[in-house]
Amino acid sequence: MRFPESRPRRLRRTPAIRRLVQETRVDPSQLVLPMFVREGIDAPVPIESMPGVVQHTRDSLKKAAVEATSAGVGGLMLFGVPAQRDARGSGAVDPAGILNVGIADLISEVGDATVVMSDGCLDEFTDHGHCGVLDADGVVDNDETLKVYAEMALAQAAAGAHMIGPSGMMDGQIGVMRQALDGAGYQDVSLIAYAAKYASALYGPFREAVDSQLKGNRRTYQQDPANAREALRELEMDVDEGADIVIVKPASAYLDVISLARDTVDVPVAAYQVSGEYAMVEAAAANGWLDRERMIDEQLTSIVRAGASIVLTYWAVEAAGRLRG
Ligand code: PBG
Repeated sequence: MRFPESRPRRLRRTPAIRRLVQETRVDPSQLVLPMFVREGIDAPVPIESMPGVVQHTRDSLKKAAVEATSAGVGGLMLFGVPAQRDARGSGAVDPAGILNVGIADLISEVGDATVVMSDGCLDEFTDHGHCGVLDADGVVDNDETLKVYAEMALAQAAAGAHMIGPSGMMDGQIGVMRQALDGAGYQDVSLIAYAAKYASALYGPFREAVDSQLKGNRRTYQQDPANAREALRELEMDVDEGADIVIVKPASAYLDVISLARDTVDVPVAAYQVSGEYAMVEAAAANGWLDRERMIDEQLTSIVRAGASIVLTYWAVEAAGRLRG
């Protein structure tokens, strides 16, 4: 019998050695906490399918933002849940709309101590739940939507957002927003672009989180989960149009796409660990079927190992606390 010439187990022998040779480390500053602010409530409303996550009042939003910032998270991504909706999603462009006032609240509360990001999409504000405006046949009208997106970007910039996250998957959305922002003197507002966003069943719990009115699906604008090469095209287009950061979404089921993105573009690559990824772990852990903390840490590590340097995660605050020891 021939002895093994190579013994990888030597470097796994003690916790100290394993720590020394660890290739991937996750730092709290890489984590971004998605948050929901809802109009017209006077106490936070728990989201049933996302245990531990709530729709915030403006007050509780500010408190949670302070808590997240002191935990060291790298940023906050804000979504708005309006009391009223219409076909054009007017609440998104209204300076008094819930998302815009929420952005201003975050800026005044945590200001430059963290990065304030906002969702640049219409689906929370439309009465049909689609990410854009509809044409006469009920199909999402790309170019009409772009006009509203440009206005929305300006409203969010005026509210003080550091970064806007266009998540509607309309063609040309980055270029149009960049142009609108630059034209109005907001050259310094960044675009964190959902470049490769898939039509995923993993967004299920989020639909409850934003009280989504959607009846159909988003397959005419979000990507087919079967396609990876197509993601490269989306990523390159967004970088060309002026994306400062690109997002791949969801994360764990799309590690190959994260890795492709990392190899292809030279801007930071972020990944969004979405509501369904959160819900699956929480539900299994609640049943005692998985070790919750190890699962969270393993998933975050894997997403970073695949090539994401930024991770949007509902566990941001908890994970940041654990990472800081
Ligand atoms: C659309 C948007 C969605 C999510 C973030 N932005 C929902 C969708 O595309 O249907 C999902 C996030 C999550 O599931 O955690 N504005």
